Amino acid sequence: MRRALLRASLCLVASVLPAGAAAQGLSAFAAQKAERLLRDKHSCLGCHQLKGEGGVLAPRLDDVRTRRDAAYIAAMVSDPQHTKPGAIMPRTRMPAGERALIVRYLGGDTTKLVRTAGLASATTADGKQLYAQWCAGCHGATGNGDGPNAKALPVMPAKHADAKAMSARSDDALFDTIEAGGAIMNKHHRMPAFGGSLGTTEIRALVAYIRSLCKCQGPQWSRNGAAL
Ligand code: HEC
Ligand code: HEC
Repeated sequence: MRRALLRASLCLVASVLPAGAAAQGLSAFAAQKAERLLRDKHSCLGCHQLKGEGGVLAPRLDDVRTRRDAAYIAAMVSDPQHTKPGAIMPRTRMPAGERALIVRYLGGDTTKLVRTAGLASATTADGKQLYAQWCAGCHGATGNGDGPNAKALPVMPAKHADAKAMSARSDDALFDTIEAGGAIMNKHHRMPAFGGSLGTTEIRALVAYIRSLCKCQGPQWSRNGAAL
């Protein structure tokens, strides 16, 4: 009788804990915090799905632990480019504690976090090629905000081909958004930060490519002297 009661209450606990929390020994609070980081702070759900929400450019995160081993999950979250060369996942910079919590939540082994070996050996500084690889999935191949992932985002990706909108942005503003992500420019946080994976030369090439898409320049005030 007692044992049955105990089992019933254990079941109850298991059913109120968020998915994966029990498996990782995370408290419900810690698991919820990890979910908030993935959903509301970082750009992860720009590309990935979690609990039915998010983008379609990458595998679902709910069950990554059933597909990948714990070391791979840790390595992917800490240094995607060196773990899976060619993947369009940028390295997200974040405090060590946040990275460890996210990795644990996803089923990764936090002793297997890798120190990044720096930026991925710059593949190309060709803005067009970089854009096709890293940006087109959301922004569309011609910068019309209509990539295959656009509908899965809570706000529309910017139309880089729109001369009116883009001529209101300085090159510096475009650079900073690409480097540090939408959030620091008061844009949506699902616009990823690429500065952990692309260097200054690549980001400048992307800004120049956006200028070729909109066939426009930044505002006059921003064009005195060398911009970037
Ligand atoms: C710009 C899109 C993008 C963003 C943003 C992104 N990822 Fe990814 N991620 C990918 C893609 C694409 C893959 C699959 C790579 C492959 O295997 O080819 C991937 C793979 C992974 C994997 C391994 C999944 C598997 O099944 O192989 C994990 C774990 C992961 N990402 C976690 C994260 C976390 C955590 C964040 C946020 C900090 C994040 N990703 C942000 C695109 C993204
Ligand atoms: C996961 C989807 C996604 C990817 C990948 C992505 N973006 Fe974005 N981007 C967005 C969204 C969504 C917005 C709009 C944010 C808003 O309006 O709040 C945005 C906005 C921007 C802006 C701001 C434009 C403005 O109005 O000031 C720039 C610049 C930009 N993206 C450049 C890029 C570049 C360059 C790449 C590739 C290196 C890229 N983005 C990749 C989703 C994405």
